[in-house]
Amino acid sequence: MFRNAKNVGYYMIGKGSLAQLDEILAKRREAVKGPAVFFFDHFFTNSDLPKRLPIKAEDITVFVDTTDEPTTQSVDTYTAQVKAILAGKSPCAMLAFGGGSTMDTCKCVGNLLTNAGCAADYQGWELVKHPAPYKIAVPTLSGTGSETSRTGIVCNEEKNIKLGMNSDFTMFDQVLLDPDLTKTVPRNQFFYTGIDTYMHCFESITGSYRNSVVDALSEKAIDLCKRIFLSSDMMSDENRELLMIASFLGGMAAGFVGTVHPISAGLSMVLHMHHGLANCYALSVQEDIYPNEYRDFMTMMERQKIDLPSGICAHLTPAQFDQLYDASIVHEKPLSNRLGENYREIFTRENVIGRFKRM
Ligand SMILES: [Fe+2]
Repeated sequence: MFRNAKNVGYYMIGKGSLAQLDEILAKRREAVKGPAVFFFDHFFTNSDLPKRLPIKAEDITVFVDTTDEPTTQSVDTYTAQVKAILAGKSPCAMLAFGGGSTMDTCKCVGNLLTNAGCAADYQGWELVKHPAPYKIAVPTLSGTGSETSRTGIVCNEEKNIKLGMNSDFTMFDQVLLDPDLTKTVPRNQFFYTGIDTYMHCFESITGSYRNSVVDALSEKAIDLCKRIFLSSDMMSDENRELLMIASFLGGMAAGFVGTVHPISAGLSMVLHMHHGLANCYALSVQEDIYPNEYRDFMTMMERQKIDLPSGICAHLTPAQFDQLYDASIVHEKPLSNRLGENYREIFTRENVIGRFKRM
């Protein structure tokens, strides 16, 4: 079976391109009479960003609490909030200003506005049946690739699993990349999130489920990441723009990850750790599985003066280690992508728990 792959419909890139959002949104307002729904990372609550945007009185503004990653519960709560204000109207567009958590929240709420039920009903592959409203991504943090990926990742606390709504309907219709928006990101966060692109792409390119388009995208994104993170300043004007491009390409190549993401998912579920940081810890104990990438990653951290404090699992109980193992080993496809069908023989409970203990 061949996969019929979808990409993002429109994209605009360049320093200062945010000024053209008005023009993009005007077309949507002409097409559909309803309000626009703006999702902002709560980081922007008291910033001047919302004031600089073409928000009208009838529009809806939601500040997404990104202290923790999106959960089925948080997505259901935001959906109920937006539905109540919409009162049956269809939004002309849904916009996300933030990183992966904000973009994924926007994507998942979008699906739930046109599909009955709750977030947990759509965690998996091809479960979304009806197209979501028109969605516009404006990343203010680069690396997760959420702006171009076909998933919206949500933690399901009840089932102890981190799993996305994988669907063509989850994708954004328009992406606007303005590197001015990532100027104020704290350095550590810029690194932890940005390096996610590098991880997605090397996991993809060293795996066994491949195709030449995904390989090409991954190769380019990896090159860009090396250029950025091995340079003397990852946050220079040029590098911030390059990282936006790497993230954009990486998001398109995502979906075929390896053993970093499953271990990272365990950390997010049990320790509520953010994805980018969790990836860094996950790779830090996989020198045997990804030796070259591990070496490059360590050099990048050193060059950018990023620290990864150790001892994060030092005080966990045996039950919590079991939970970490369960929330990691459940990701069959990525694990077999790197380790083969018999991945459980390599990633035994003891092996995986041993890795967590080293973090
Ligand atoms: Fe990722």
